[in-house]
Amino acid sequence: MVSQPVQPVVDDPREAALRERVKAGYQLEDPTEMTPRYHDVLVNTMHIAADLEVVTLPTYSPAIRTAPTLEDKIAIASACQDELGHAQVIYRLLEEFGYDTQYFLFERDPHEWRTFQMLEFPHEDYIESVVSMCYGDRAGYITTVDLEENCSFAPFARSLRKVNFEETFHVAHGERWVKFFWNLNERSRERVQESVDFYFPLCAAWFGVPDEMKKRTDQLAYKIRGASNDQMRQKWLSQVVPFSESVGIRVPAHFDEDSGHFVLDYEPPIHLDEQTRTWDYDRRISWAEQFRIWKTGSRHKVPSISRLHHEAWGADLW
Ligand SMILES: [Fe+2]
Ligand SMILES: [Fe+2]
Repeated sequence: MVSQPVQPVVDDPREAALRERVKAGYQLEDPTEMTPRYHDVLVNTMHIAADLEVVTLPTYSPAIRTAPTLEDKIAIASACQDELGHAQVIYRLLEEFGYDTQYFLFERDPHEWRTFQMLEFPHEDYIESVVSMCYGDRAGYITTVDLEENCSFAPFARSLRKVNFEETFHVAHGERWVKFFWNLNERSRERVQESVDFYFPLCAAWFGVPDEMKKRTDQLAYKIRGASNDQMRQKWLSQVVPFSESVGIRVPAHFDEDSGHFVLDYEPPIHLDEQTRTWDYDRRISWAEQFRIWKTGSRHKVPSISRLHHEAWGADLW
């Protein structure tokens, strides 16, 4: 959910003064306190955050249908309810900035939605859902915790307490069932590994481009968030690599003794075959190509969002 602001920073004394105030720890309570630039960066961040909560719903849909037990079905359905609740929290805030939730959720062209690749692929089964909770919800959680702890717009920061509380359940649920399926039988163990192989690079990319490539740093300058892309990615790696190693799951990353950091075993961006869901670690693509893929979205993006607009979910899923 790392956004790319659309305009250059305006070198205006009011903007600079606000950047100084938030840097010193000041938190805004009301939109009237905002400068135009701050307003744009904040609204853009919340807009993306809201979209990303909603698009998780269609990804869970196949897994709800095929969940092995009623308990599993309920567990995924309640995670979906949580995610929609998270979106609701952000929509309510966005209404203060003139957003119309009805239009935003049900009438907006699916092409206009902001999605991240990690949240575009429908989970093919329950194992893929718990892998995505263990690795993907954890990535999401790291970004929303950063916002809760650092965001200079206090109402947004406060609203994320409930969101983050629930995300810890998603991550814990994922961890527990990833371990369970790893130990259940050979087939389920293979399926866990296969799902991690697909999800790991998607989750590592969730945090955006490396810091050295990032030209627009408004989110940090206005303290909408506190940590950089690489800092958050490092935090995620420092959790998922030891977890995976403790279970026995292979991941394309390791702790580098020399630098004292966790590092990827490949140099992103790399090529993904969407049909087979396999990464070619030796086939680098250009960043221009990666940006194009992120912007357009996968082949699942538009059909998934269209489903949200047209389908009577409750009746169909059961
Ligand atoms: Fe969420
Ligand atoms: Fe979640």
